[in-house]
Amino acid sequence: MSNSDRLIGPFRQVVTLAGLPPAGPLKDEQILVIQEGGLLVREGRIAAAGTFDELKASHAGAAVETPPSGSIAFPGLIDAHTHICWAGSRAEDYALRVGGTSYLEIARRGGGIKSTVRQTRKASREELAALTSRRARRLLQDGVTTCEVKSGYGLTVEEELKMLRAIGDADREVPGDLIPTCLAAHIPPREDGEGPEEYLDRMAVELLPRVRREGLADRVDIFIEDTAFTAEQARPYLDAAARLGFRITVHADQFSTGGALLAAELGALSADHLERTDTASLKALAERGVTALALPGASLGLGEPYAPARRILDAGGALAVASDWNPGSAPMGDLLLQAAVLGAAEKLSMAETWAAVTVRAAAALGLTDRGSLEPGRLADFAVWQAEDWREVLWYQGSLKPAAVWKSGTRI
Ligand code: NIG
Ligand code: FE
Repeated sequence: MSNSDRLIGPFRQVVTLAGLPPAGPLKDEQILVIQEGGLLVREGRIAAAGTFDELKASHAGAAVETPPSGSIAFPGLIDAHTHICWAGSRAEDYALRVGGTSYLEIARRGGGIKSTVRQTRKASREELAALTSRRARRLLQDGVTTCEVKSGYGLTVEEELKMLRAIGDADREVPGDLIPTCLAAHIPPREDGEGPEEYLDRMAVELLPRVRREGLADRVDIFIEDTAFTAEQARPYLDAAARLGFRITVHADQFSTGGALLAAELGALSADHLERTDTASLKALAERGVTALALPGASLGLGEPYAPARRILDAGGALAVASDWNPGSAPMGDLLLQAAVLGAAEKLSMAETWAAVTVRAAAALGLTDRGSLEPGRLADFAVWQAEDWREVLWYQGSLKPAAVWKSGTRI
């Protein structure tokens, strides 16, 4: 035993989410629930999970930290797809959308992503870092201890670098972990007469090597869609990114198909959105072990169908759920609420929903050190005060965590 050991407990229940298969359907009976549990924490990681009394007896020297009474511990939530680095507002877009103008039509008129690009370019790195930190802290209170954050509202070499540096600043500032992704390929800016292919070629040469050199991100994303890039345009860009050592993720099949098949072909970490994906593409993702990442917040924000989460799992896929928090399509930014709503609509077991926002979301980010409460994993967890673990999703996100721990430290 190390003298830095701390025993946190007793919890009414500890839901470890340990030992689950990485893909396919899950039953609630597969969830390990430890009654009157405790977590032994050593140097920011879980050293043991078990019943409080047994851990206390076997680690008599460990300092005891008492959580809020009657609380149920789950692994910290992992939000594997967000755009929380932005400046300004898109309330005007939202008013147009609820009034009946479509997202794609607003984009064609120069609103949408372009409007956030204009507002974000005006902000300094410091302002962007402060805005990102504030949103990341909000997420942390909701139990999100790891959050992916994309660039993509800069769309020039210097503005994309500014965003990625701001995300890095915010990561150093907040207790939660922010995982940066370069989304310079969000939409073609079509500035100075430059077409989409030329823009991507230039970004592959002028931006991506600098992102690598400065260590600003090791993930690259692209939006494959009618108003953004085609799959044919995306392929050479993603190949170039992969040659530079980036992991790939794709905004795929939100309004039209093609992106998910490319993600499967390239062995991407994840294919995200999938509201329009066909069964053949779902099978291809499952066969290649590409995480299918549903974004119910975008469906709610746009009034569009949900990704076919049930079919993804039944096709043997790895389903993860993220909030897509962004000023346009998904302004809510509430992961657990959205996952609960998706679960009700798509008939997901509670085990499937919890795995989708913890251990399977970690896999979508290529992270193996978190997502479940088992020895060696980071001691990232959140507690909700309830009688039984199933109550947390039953509240559909309206019950908020009573406390959150990041790397063993209570926030
Ligand atoms: O994931 N689809 C493209 N990107 C975002 C929307 C960004 C925005 O509207 O500002 C999404 O929904
Ligand atoms: Fe997105």
